Amino acid sequence: MKNLLSIEQLTRAEMDDIFRVAALQKQNRGKHTEFPLRGQSWGLIFSKPSTRTRVSFEVGVRELGGETIFLNPNDIQLGRGELIKDTARVLGRMIHGAIIRTFAQADIEEFADFSGLPTINALTDDEHPCQILADIFTFQEKRENIEGKIVTFVGDAASNTARSWMFAAGKMNFELRLAAPAKYQPSAEWLKRAGGNVVCNPNLQEAARGADVLYTDIWVSMGKEGEEARREAELGPYWINRDLVKLAKPEALVMHCLPAHRGQEIDDATLEAHAQTIFDQSENRLHVQKAVLLAVVGS
Ligand code: CP
Ligand code: NVA
Repeated sequence: MKNLLSIEQLTRAEMDDIFRVAALQKQNRGKHTEFPLRGQSWGLIFSKPSTRTRVSFEVGVRELGGETIFLNPNDIQLGRGELIKDTARVLGRMIHGAIIRTFAQADIEEFADFSGLPTINALTDDEHPCQILADIFTFQEKRENIEGKIVTFVGDAASNTARSWMFAAGKMNFELRLAAPAKYQPSAEWLKRAGGNVVCNPNLQEAARGADVLYTDIWVSMGKEGEEARREAELGPYWINRDLVKLAKPEALVMHCLPAHRGQEIDDATLEAHAQTIFDQSENRLHVQKAVLLAVVGS
């Protein structure tokens, strides 16, 4: 596996391999004697803010023996209009891998093509593969294989995290229920691409009933700030609170990719009651992404 550009392009076997290596990385953190990224410099090119993704990748690359260079697009010529394909060809001759957070999925694909570097999607408007890999890893660590389970996604079901969940449902054979108003459901094209196991249900209570996971993400994704008032009004009822949790299985996990906006997609009491799971999801970004780094360098 040369790149991690999306869950859509991953195979089930690659996903299972990432989970297996992530578990070993977690278990052996700080005790490694081999450093597969030694002598390597990895560029992080982030056009959107980040706490978890940035820090987990910077720490992960270092723990595997490499160095990172954080490249804010506004500090490099990319921000002044240098083409992605030219930037990619320059960096391809200097660094050893790229971790990119940006808007258009096509931009990271172009970067990967022109740089020839192992390239990792650290979030685009289309997908957030590292997050959903860490989320599934977290579920399987706490429960059992996710196959056959029910994951209910509450909120903006046309978001990047929802899309990565959709592709994962098709590959890992669990039921994904998207609880969102029609306007925030994925298009028919995305549903077709996902390949099955996805049920769109605007009835939140019905979608939550019997779920193994209640999952949510912010209502206003990065880049959608201008739609804040409208989204708050339209997504208003689609939040996770204690009443909704009662409809899910008694052992259901409540998950959130973070950052959280308490009082919008989740209430404070529910987030705090499930903080162990939610912050384990954050921690697992580190272990899972170390496994992704190892996969893309072929170690
Ligand atoms: N969940 C997530 O990707 O968080 P950051 O935006 O802080 O990286
Ligand atoms: N859907 C969110 C995820 C943040 C980690 C966004 O794109 O802003």
